Parts: sequence; structure tokens; C-alpha cells
Amino acid sequence: MSDRTPSTGDRAGTDHTEQADHVDRPALAAAAAEVPDLAPWLARRATVRQFDTDAEIPDDEVRAMVDAGRKAPTSGTAQMYSFVWIRDSDRRERIHELCSRGTVQVEEASHFLLVCIDIRRIRLLLEHRDREFRMTPAMGLLEGSIDASLAAMGVMLAAESRGYGVCPIGNILNNLTEVAATADLPAGVLPIFGLCLGVPRHGEATENAPRVPLDTVLHEGGYRDATEAQLDACYDAMNEMYGDSVYGDDRREWQETLERYWGPNGFMNRREGELLDALRQQGFFEARGIDEPADADTEPDADRHAGGAA
Ligand SMILES: Cc1cc2nc3c(=O)[nH]c(=O)nc-3n(C[C@H](O)[C@H](O)[C@H](O)COP(=O)(O)O)c2cc1C
Repeated sequence: MSDRTPSTGDRAGTDHTEQADHVDRPALAAAAAEVPDLAPWLARRATVRQFDTDAEIPDDEVRAMVDAGRKAPTSGTAQMYSFVWIRDSDRRERIHELCSRGTVQVEEASHFLLVCIDIRRIRLLLEHRDREFRMTPAMGLLEGSIDASLAAMGVMLAAESRGYGVCPIGNILNNLTEVAATADLPAGVLPIFGLCLGVPRHGEATENAPRVPLDTVLHEGGYRDATEAQLDACYDAMNEMYGDSVYGDDRREWQETLERYWGPNGFMNRREGELLDALRQQGFFEARGIDEPADADTEPDADRHAGGAA
């Protein structure tokens, strides 16, 4: 953060002659090879969770990377997203606390941004031309998530292609209402994940997590359920990430990971109530022009909604 030494501006100290050695900074290989086809490089990209706390990405670089993200496709040209760059270290510390699960990178990365759905700017734009705004919450959530995620992917690719490390932070969903309040987000703006951008720490192996096989995600000619053999192949592929890999824990298997996320008591499901509260708090239900859902038990905070719906 502000008291850190700026990087030398050489794209995180990239030495293009050492590409084979950059197992901890796989994205550097792209610049080294100047590969016009991104596919082989994408196959090597990896999330970075250990950052060099003495190195900083210059602010202009962050702006340039977000600028690159703006070129993402966007439904109906609406661009329903904003990046909120958290610059204050107290706020970052608080957001880290709210993530409630050891994501130290929120504080250790050079920069931290909240990737947000932004339906507020649509309302302001329409009202600026004396037009009426109306948005149903599920469509706002879906379209905004798509726009924000595509733009964020552009930012991530721009960062990784410059040799920087990136970690999305979904753990903000653990306390989404508080995260939105901590960042002072007005009605119509909902964070969906955080984005850590920083200089990867050397010497920390960053392993590329496996993926399920191509034939289970690409349905040629029509959707088919995976066969038993294909399901086994998914487990064979994904279990590679345990054992002696950087993910550690050779006692775990992928079904346990999936269950922790999406079993009946999985933490994704436990976040549902918090998400609904956050949607309500951030004015997404009001934006459709009708009242709260029938089962709403939380009143929106009147002060934070002084500007009206979204
Ligand atoms: C929406 C989203 C949220 C994520 N949240 C976190 C997080 O809170 N903490 C973390 O360490 N990694 C997080 N990740 C990174 C994933 O764990 C990572 O992408 C996945 O394990 C695959 O690894 P790879 O990107 O290195 O291939 C998140 C990724 C996405 C897309």
C-alpha cells in the first residue's frame, strides 16, 4: 500500500530470458514468447495468493489494466459494472476481517478492488435524459454479474500478461452487507467479488489447478450428462491437486471440496441469506418499482437509500 516501495516499472521485474524458471510467475511466459495465440498461455495461468509486500504496482498500471477490462463485451452496451478501488488501509483491513477466512492477500496485495454490479449508473443515465428506470432484481443480478465478470476477466488477463499476480476474493460474500457498507457503496451498487492485484512473491510455487476434462464441459451437438467413466475422469483430474501439490492435504479428495461448497450445509448455500440481505440493502428489490418481497424481514436502511431506488 502507500508506504511500499514502488516497483521499477519493468512489469514486475520481468526478465524475459528466464521464462522457463518462472514456475511461480507463469504469466511471464506470455510476454517472453510474444505468443499471438493466448490459448497456450491461458492453460498456464494460475491464481496468485502470495504477494511481495515490498513491491507495488504503480497506480497508472492499475488504471491501464482496468482500462483494458472496459473492452469486454457488454449486454446491450449497458456496462453494468464498476470497480471500486479500496485505497484506505483501514478499510482493507476491515474487509479482510469481514472475509472471515484467512485471505491475507486482501491486505498483502499491492491493490485491492471490489468488482461490483452497477445498476445505479444506468438509473442516473436514464434520469439524466428524463427517462424512466426500471430493473427486476434477478435480471439486474444476472446481467450485472455477467458484465462485471467479463470486465474483471479482462483486467485479470491484462494484469497476468504483465507478469502481475491476481486473486479473486469470493469470501467477501460471507459478510456482503457489511462489505458494501464499509466501502460506502450507494444503492444500486453491489460487490460480487474482490480482486487482489500485486507482484507475486518469488520462491512461492504457484501451481495451476487442474480442470475437469474438455469433453465434460464441451457438449458437441447437444447437452449430455457425463457418463460414469467421465465422472471418474473428472475426479482423477481434480484429485491431482492434492497429494504433494501446493494445495497440500493428501487426505482430501475433490468430493469433499465440492461438498464443502455445494453440499446441503455448504458455505455457498449458507451465503444465500446474506446475499438476499445485501440485495435488499443495496436497493435491488426497490429498483423493480414494487415493494419488498413478501418474506422480507429486514427494512432497508433509510439513510443509505436517501437517493431512492438504485
Ligand atoms: C468468483 C471467484 C472467487 C474466488 N474467491 C477466492 C477466495 O476468496 N480466496 C482464494 O484464495 N481464491 C479465490 N478464488 C480463486 C480460485 O480458488 C481459483 O481460481 C481456483 O482454485 C482455480 O485455481 P487457478 O485459478 O489457479 O487455476 C476465487 C475465484 C473466483 C472465480
